[in-house]
Amino acid sequence: MSTGDSFYITTPIYYPSDLPHIGHGYTTVAVDALARWHRQAGDDTWMLTGTDEHGQKMLRAAAANGVTPQEWVDKLVTESWFPLLETLDVANDDFIRTTQPRHEERVQEFVKALYDRGYIYAGEYEALYCVGCEEFKPEAEIVDGTGAFEGLKVCAIHSKPLELLQEKNYFFKLSEFQERLLELYKTEPDFVRPESARNEVVSFVRSGLKDLSISRSAFDWGITVPWDPSHVIYVWVDALLNYATAVGYGTDPEQFARRWPAYHIVGKDILRFHAVIWPAMLMAAGLDVPRGVFAHGWLLVGGEKMSKSKLTGIAPTEITDTFGSDAYRFYFLSAIAFGQDGSFSWEDLSARYQAELANGFGNLALRTTAMIEKYFEGVVPPASAYTDGDLVIQQTVADAAAAADQAMERFRPDEAIAAIWTIVDALNGYITDNEPWALAKDDAQRARLGTVLYTAAEGLRALAVLLSPFMPQATAKLWIALGHAGRLVDQPIRDAGAWGVLVPGTSVNGLAPLFPRIEQA
Ligand code: ME8
Ligand code: MG
Repeated sequence: MSTGDSFYITTPIYYPSDLPHIGHGYTTVAVDALARWHRQAGDDTWMLTGTDEHGQKMLRAAAANGVTPQEWVDKLVTESWFPLLETLDVANDDFIRTTQPRHEERVQEFVKALYDRGYIYAGEYEALYCVGCEEFKPEAEIVDGTGAFEGLKVCAIHSKPLELLQEKNYFFKLSEFQERLLELYKTEPDFVRPESARNEVVSFVRSGLKDLSISRSAFDWGITVPWDPSHVIYVWVDALLNYATAVGYGTDPEQFARRWPAYHIVGKDILRFHAVIWPAMLMAAGLDVPRGVFAHGWLLVGGEKMSKSKLTGIAPTEITDTFGSDAYRFYFLSAIAFGQDGSFSWEDLSARYQAELANGFGNLALRTTAMIEKYFEGVVPPASAYTDGDLVIQQTVADAAAAADQAMERFRPDEAIAAIWTIVDALNGYITDNEPWALAKDDAQRARLGTVLYTAAEGLRALAVLLSPFMPQATAKLWIALGHAGRLVDQPIRDAGAWGVLVPGTSVNGLAPLFPRIEQA
């Protein structure tokens, strides 16, 4: 048990060049569920998200819309990126924007510190750049274009032509960190997860690191290089530093010491920036490397990585307007193995909503509370002698709670939900087997009926606590319906598996369906 430990977790900071889609929502709800879990476990939790507002991609998006880049990011962040957090019921502790002075000033200090330590030098550069990635692309990620881009070299991720850039740049001596990085991956085998991501990073670093171009001089939408105002700092160096500037790097040593280092959750598209460049930057500055980097897979639509640039983007509100935020969170976090790609389809979403939420969990909650109302006038009955079958339920709850906590420690929300769902399935089977409606017809079975309904209600209590980080709204309603005192989010999650918390005599209140039937359009 690590109660009270510091747990600082981040999402990537997204480019507000365009609107959020369900891929951004996916990472964000995963991080939020992990943060809520740790918060409810009593860990000293901090969840950060934000927006990455500089660079050429932003400059072009603004130009295409006839406004300044600052106007463009202000508009997108207020109208679309802040509201995303409401849409998905995200309880972030902070939101950083890279155009904020708290960030820009500290980035300059950091880069200056590396310069003063001799890790930055001026050089000439000529390479193929992808504006979509904001990255000079290595050979292995350059492919031949097709269709309209026949004959051109394109980015393997964005399928858009690369641009040949030739500039005088400042370089970071990334190549000097090859051995130290390999040593890090060896001594901290969990530094990069999952295993597939770790292997990719290790073999990339083994194959040799080149120094990194960290400034641009062809445009000025960025943070000025402190010793050379004709350059702006490369947008990725600027962006990665958000994780440190947001928790007081350079301004609030106490806060920084309390929070740092962080766990970073990212999509696999940006794994290398986080698992190679970022720790090397921190090593160069003499700061602690992150606690770990977890790369999840891509949401695929029609077999391709969903993205706005390929016009396959789906807005999160398209899902939440119909199914609600709980269902969004549940669906993406349970249906996709965290770390692997997953295909999104409306059919799969609807089917799981109906089977698992409406018929599985929702119906269990509804029939248990309805039977307590009907047979015990809405007052939770006491349990009397437990049978073996009752004890099996108690064991299922204890095992599920322990397994879920272990899964969350391993950054596997999908496995945590699967473990918790053994309670839903066991309780639905238990009710079917014990037929409380038949027991209710026989006065001699009154005590047994009480035990069965107490068992079901106490199992629901555990479910409300364990599912609260995933489905904050439905579980809060269930918590109130079960008549519990206090706030659900204050229930210590690592104790959720202990039996007998629900107090007999508690009044159960009417529960409306947690997951209403969706009318087919
Ligand atoms: O890369 N499936 O920002 P970005 C799953 N600003 N996740 C997806 C996804 C998909 N199809 N599409 C996007 C950037 N994501 C930089 C990050 S961090 C210091 C700077 C999610 O707006 C996933 O988390 O392109 C991915 O890594 C991120 O959005 C990329 O967001
Ligand atoms: Mg991207």
